[in-house]
Amino acid sequence: MELEIGTQGTIDAVRGDLESVLGFKPDEIRGLPSDFLHIDLAKPGLHTLWMRCRNGEPTLLHAFAIHIEGRTCVYLAPVFDEHSLEVKFAYQSALFRGLAFAAEYGDPELLNHLARVERYTIWIAKDALQWSQADVARITLAAYVHDVGKSAIPREILYKPARLTPEEYRLVQTHTQKGRDVLTQIEAYVQQECAWLYDEKGWQWAKDVALHHHENWDGTGYPTGVSGESIPLVARVVKLVDVLDALLEARPYKEGWPLEKVRREIDAKKGVEFDPYLAEWLLAQDWNLIREIACRSPMRVEG
Ligand SMILES: [Fe+2]
Ligand SMILES: [Fe+2]
Repeated sequence: MELEIGTQGTIDAVRGDLESVLGFKPDEIRGLPSDFLHIDLAKPGLHTLWMRCRNGEPTLLHAFAIHIEGRTCVYLAPVFDEHSLEVKFAYQSALFRGLAFAAEYGDPELLNHLARVERYTIWIAKDALQWSQADVARITLAAYVHDVGKSAIPREILYKPARLTPEEYRLVQTHTQKGRDVLTQIEAYVQQECAWLYDEKGWQWAKDVALHHHENWDGTGYPTGVSGESIPLVARVVKLVDVLDALLEARPYKEGWPLEKVRREIDAKKGVEFDPYLAEWLLAQDWNLIREIACRSPMRVEG
């Protein structure tokens, strides 16, 4: 949709379906000063701004204004249309993948670990919790950044090829609060710089996962020692899949465990470390599926 603003600052022409977005018929606003819709409409460049609808409600639009021979042409597109959630998720996915990659840069297994965590998370959110597509996407995005706080832990401790001292271990544990802090800071920048890409629930879940993915159901975990259903559900899910993957896969310092041994471990720790409902659900599944999920090609996160 397009507006043409004349040299006197009045709306001279309206093209496209302005009525479905702002509620005005072309005749109603033709000849009116452009600041009737928004004060900055005639400023050249790309803006994202609130505009007045006919019913008095504001709506957020992208406005691209160019000057041609003293006149201003403004091309308008709604920010919140039926694709807005997908745009937010695509943006957040790129941002969170990049953050996760930077946080543990140098770990050769990182991308494989994140890809498997992503697939297990989608499996549980869809099949065990029956969440909506949007919430499945949100928890998957949150799972990417569970260890983002490792960016603030010295590399020589993070990748130390020997047992950590108690003091070093305490420092590593702080990756939880540091992760939450990093995300809180980036969240503020997103709200400030590109509010139209901000998904409040998705950011809240990411912060919850970063802070609480090492809590235990019985309250013996870290950093807060919160227990049971007071641990955000998203963090309980990511804890389970993170440990599941850590046990199954070989790392430089350990062999991968056989499926049966991992099953016994999850069974022993349900209601102790893990949410008993989620652990029960996992134990009741066909465990041949787990190997298959681990090896699947990457899925797309959809809104
Ligand atoms: Fe962690
Ligand atoms: Fe992890």
